[in-house]
Amino acid sequence: MTNFSNPLTKCLGIEFPILLAPMAGGPTTPQLVTAVSNAGGLGQFGAAYLNDDEIVTMANQLRASTNKSFGINLFLPQNPEYTDQEFSKATEALTDYFSKFGLKLPKNIIDTTPNLNQQLKAVIESDIKFCSFHLGLPTKKNIQELKEAGIFTAASATSVEEAKQAEEKGVDFIIAQGSEAGGHRGTWIGDWRHSMTGTMSLLAQLKALISTPIIAAGGIMNGAGIAAAIALGAVGVQMGTAFLTCPEAGVNDHYKKALLNTSNDNTIVTRTFSGRPARGLRNYYIEKMENSGSYALPFPLQNILTGPLRKAAAKENNTDYMSMWCGQGASLSRGIPAAKLIETLVDEYNQTLIKVTN
Ligand SMILES: Cc1cc2nc3c(=O)[nH]c(=O)nc-3n(C[C@H](O)[C@H](O)[C@H](O)COP(=O)(O)O)c2cc1C
Repeated sequence: MTNFSNPLTKCLGIEFPILLAPMAGGPTTPQLVTAVSNAGGLGQFGAAYLNDDEIVTMANQLRASTNKSFGINLFLPQNPEYTDQEFSKATEALTDYFSKFGLKLPKNIIDTTPNLNQQLKAVIESDIKFCSFHLGLPTKKNIQELKEAGIFTAASATSVEEAKQAEEKGVDFIIAQGSEAGGHRGTWIGDWRHSMTGTMSLLAQLKALISTPIIAAGGIMNGAGIAAAIALGAVGVQMGTAFLTCPEAGVNDHYKKALLNTSNDNTIVTRTFSGRPARGLRNYYIEKMENSGSYALPFPLQNILTGPLRKAAAKENNTDYMSMWCGQGASLSRGIPAAKLIETLVDEYNQTLIKVTN
């Protein structure tokens, strides 16, 4: 049996170097996080849209259901700006879709993003083992305070420059997010289109230039993918899409069905739903919005604006208007319980090692 002992497994006290990607907005339910942690990986919950009280409640709920470590993920504030004219353009593009579901477009938009400092206070109070950041970097002081509280930190990077800055800030781990990855691109330096290096290439580049341990994310769907990432020097993997079809995931059944039935790369990176580039399954809404070059407000305003539309579509099981975030490996989805998935991944990893050493 493989000995997975490395800086990641040791720090987090986990058996396998497999992290459930934190997925804000519903997928990472307490049941999914618990199942992954209890199976020997690290369950993580996406808390970008949760306020401090909700974070404390979630952490308490998790602590009541597992004595294993778990992690949390936060977004950096984006401080978006927009003009009245841009707001009109964005709402105009959505008029037909809103009326289709009998929805009214708002007259203005309120940024409901929770306060990062309050979220961090809740993380420290809740004594969560691991805290990762997406869409930017917190301050050195933030990182220091988390470390002093015994919390390990990580930040996503989609380029060498971002990884260097994360290293400079003193995070314990860097999450190399390759272009295959599902969900929002973490890019915060420059145009996202210039930070679309694939997971394996990005990993090799980072390995050559930085010394902070790296966690690979993007397109990893099986044990061979984990073995490839570890062979390239990663200390672990962060997998999102592979867990979306688990029965424990908080994902609409029709979204799950779409993932289980999708053809090989039917995904696209689009700003049309949230205002930030994110990878998901192509559908009618994305095609229409992309093809017409429709204006989208910056994140999170577009996300807030399209919220009622996505909610109404999910209620009616209408996948034409749902955001179905996933990575390029979606067609390899399995739809099995999380514990079984972890067991299978470890088994496949071991089989891969036997193959390459014989
Ligand atoms: C539905 C979904 C939601 C996501 N939400 C987050 C998030 O809240 N925070 C974060 O750091 N990453 C998020 N990600 C990105 C993952 O951390 C990771 O980069 C990605 O899942 C890896 O690619 P894969 O989906 O091919 O495994 C999300 C991914 C998906 C599929």
